[in-house]
Amino acid sequence: MIVLGIESSCDETGVALVDTAGVTVPRLRAHALHSQIEMHQAYGGVVPELASRDHIRRVLPLAEQVLAEASATLREIDVVAYTRGPGLAGALLVGAGVACALGAALGKPVLGVHHLEGHLLSPFLSSDPPEFPFIALLVSGGHTQLMQVDGVGRYTLLGETIDDAAGEAFDKSAKLLGLGYPGGPALSRLAQQGDPAAFKLPRPLLHSGDLDFSFAGLKTAVLTQVHKLGPALEERKADLAASTEAAIADVLVKKSMAALERSGLQRIVVAGGVGANRRLRAQLDAACARRGVRVHYPELSLCTDNGAMIALAAAMRLQAGVQQAVPNYAFDVKPRWPLESLAAERPGS
Ligand code: KG4
Ligand code: ZN
Repeated sequence: MIVLGIESSCDETGVALVDTAGVTVPRLRAHALHSQIEMHQAYGGVVPELASRDHIRRVLPLAEQVLAEASATLREIDVVAYTRGPGLAGALLVGAGVACALGAALGKPVLGVHHLEGHLLSPFLSSDPPEFPFIALLVSGGHTQLMQVDGVGRYTLLGETIDDAAGEAFDKSAKLLGLGYPGGPALSRLAQQGDPAAFKLPRPLLHSGDLDFSFAGLKTAVLTQVHKLGPALEERKADLAASTEAAIADVLVKKSMAALERSGLQRIVVAGGVGANRRLRAQLDAACARRGVRVHYPELSLCTDNGAMIALAAAMRLQAGVQQAVPNYAFDVKPRWPLESLAAERPGS
């Protein structure tokens, strides 16, 4: 089975082709990505209408590129998958529209995929794929969640942020430091030259006893430091960036270890854009090594949004029999869509 996947939920257009022939974990044949970062940079964040228009421009050339790289033809595609949600409504509609049009033209079924399920399963495309069951730490621009994953489509929410997401904390703090969009990678680069212990920043809910997160207070603390430093900010910027990154990583690692302990599971998967963060990876590696727990990451290039994870998630859902692809081209999108509600949905719905 060959699945074409299309991702267009935010500011990246991604297209990919996976193949399930002769393998238990789908194999990535080709993927192509166009990031809109440069276009949104002038505005300091994603402009939804511009995002939708750019997805329209990019998606077909990217699909052609992927088919050429995989030496495949449109006719060989068995299923067309797209990101159904969550994300920006207009942006999602582009991927859904193109996927349904392609499916209808080819007479092939289509399948709408949950964006976070794509992130969560993306480590299966790495050279060191996980095995079920595992704990998943999902850390993206819009979500911060700990899930127990017992199999494809079997997700239990253990804890989540009660306000800002981890990626949002990176992005908002970066903005306060005068770093560009997207803030996470910029703040993380600057942090490498700073002292993570230079500023005492709050680690919200660190000892709350549950698995929830809160990051809104952190940006307020960063703002207070920025005001306090005034003109001295310039020479202390790297220290403040490093201290912010350390505060976020500390909380994520501590809660992840608590989730492992409570569940008794021996494996954790980290997914979503913040999963690319070096400090988070280093601290989690060390904590997991101490406990004798395995940790899995997606390939660095597949940490942030991409089409490969969407094609993969569709193929894995079909392989596991938790969903059927149907020739229903009445595309709908779900801009708000909790991941744990997936488990409650009937196959084929
Ligand atoms: O998963 P993703 O690409 O998009 C969403 O689904 O949200 O995640 C984007 C988020 C942004 O907040 C970005 O700043 C953050 O991931 N991010 C990072 C790094 N790379 C991306 N945060 C910290 N360190 C990084 N290296
Ligand atoms: Zn994402």
